Amino acid sequence: MKIGILTGGGDCPGLNPVIRAVVRKALSKGWEVIGFRYGWKGIIDNVSEKLDMTSVSGILHRGGTILGTSRTNPYKNPGDVEKVKANMKAQGIDALVAIGGEDTLGAANKLYKDGVAVVGVPKTIDNDLNATDFTFGYDTALNIAMECLDRLHTTAESHNRVIVAEIMGRHAGWIALESGIAGGADLILIPEVPLTIEEICDTIKRRHARGKTFSIIAVSEGFHLKNEDLVADKELDQFGHVKLGGIGQRIADMIEKKTGFETRVTVLGHIQRGGSPTAFDRVLGTRFGLGAVDLIEAKKFGQMVSLRGRDIVDVALEAAVGKLKTVPLDWYETARTFFG
Ligand code: F6P
Repeated sequence: MKIGILTGGGDCPGLNPVIRAVVRKALSKGWEVIGFRYGWKGIIDNVSEKLDMTSVSGILHRGGTILGTSRTNPYKNPGDVEKVKANMKAQGIDALVAIGGEDTLGAANKLYKDGVAVVGVPKTIDNDLNATDFTFGYDTALNIAMECLDRLHTTAESHNRVIVAEIMGRHAGWIALESGIAGGADLILIPEVPLTIEEICDTIKRRHARGKTFSIIAVSEGFHLKNEDLVADKELDQFGHVKLGGIGQRIADMIEKKTGFETRVTVLGHIQRGGSPTAFDRVLGTRFGLGAVDLIEAKKFGQMVSLRGRDIVDVALEAAVGKLKTVPLDWYETARTFFG
């Protein structure tokens, strides 16, 4: 048996533990493993390397991905799907492990329907992928964001300032919500719950009226004000995705103007995706990698590994793509108790 492996989409702490687990388990069965570089781009352009014990030695604790990644999607460019199939055939690849988020797994699902033997491993720091309780990378990002909020607290308090922390979360506010709860944010703004600038300022004014002289606001990059279009006038990246960012600064400017409180903004950005994975993400990535090899051995193609409670189970790729797992409103209500 010869299998291929690739990592697609934004990088994420925990990818290397998955690669290591896939390679170690596959080699123990006498299989061969080929790593494709830069996601789907590596199969389309046939850029790959053989992975052995040495390739995956010392990578468990390392962030990022030793294979590199890209947002290339074979269904966006005519002829690329044929190249994927032809290059897999030329290399004698029997099955493929695709590690990625909605976009990468969406392509994997289509390839499966087009006759390619592929299994999926869910990945995203945003935790917005359906059909799994958690994706690896999320716990690491959450803890980084929480630590940043802790650090912002001490400087905000010393200077009597409002500080707006812009946190990753394109369509779902999981990182802002849970880091905001854990880090004691005084207001949390997520894409699922648009608010008016008046509602935002009233919350801050209420807090300051009870004697507080500083506030911390956690805002998802995908948040938008009520009655405003998130994507209006936004630039696209080379893969056609809207480039987010900027909402923190906009809100900070409005707050300062409307309340008179000195306000600063901090964009956490890619710090949230960099560096070592937490223990939770290393263990989850390892279990997902081992599960992906089991799926291939059982010829359960078109399936992906998923976390349900404490168990690794398999679900159809179809169930994971197409609809995002956004924050339920009752979760937002939990956080709301501590606003203001
Ligand atoms: O992978 C998810 C994510 O980190 C989002 O939270 C964020 O909007 C996006 O990727 C950023 O993408 P890029 O690295 O291409 O700027």
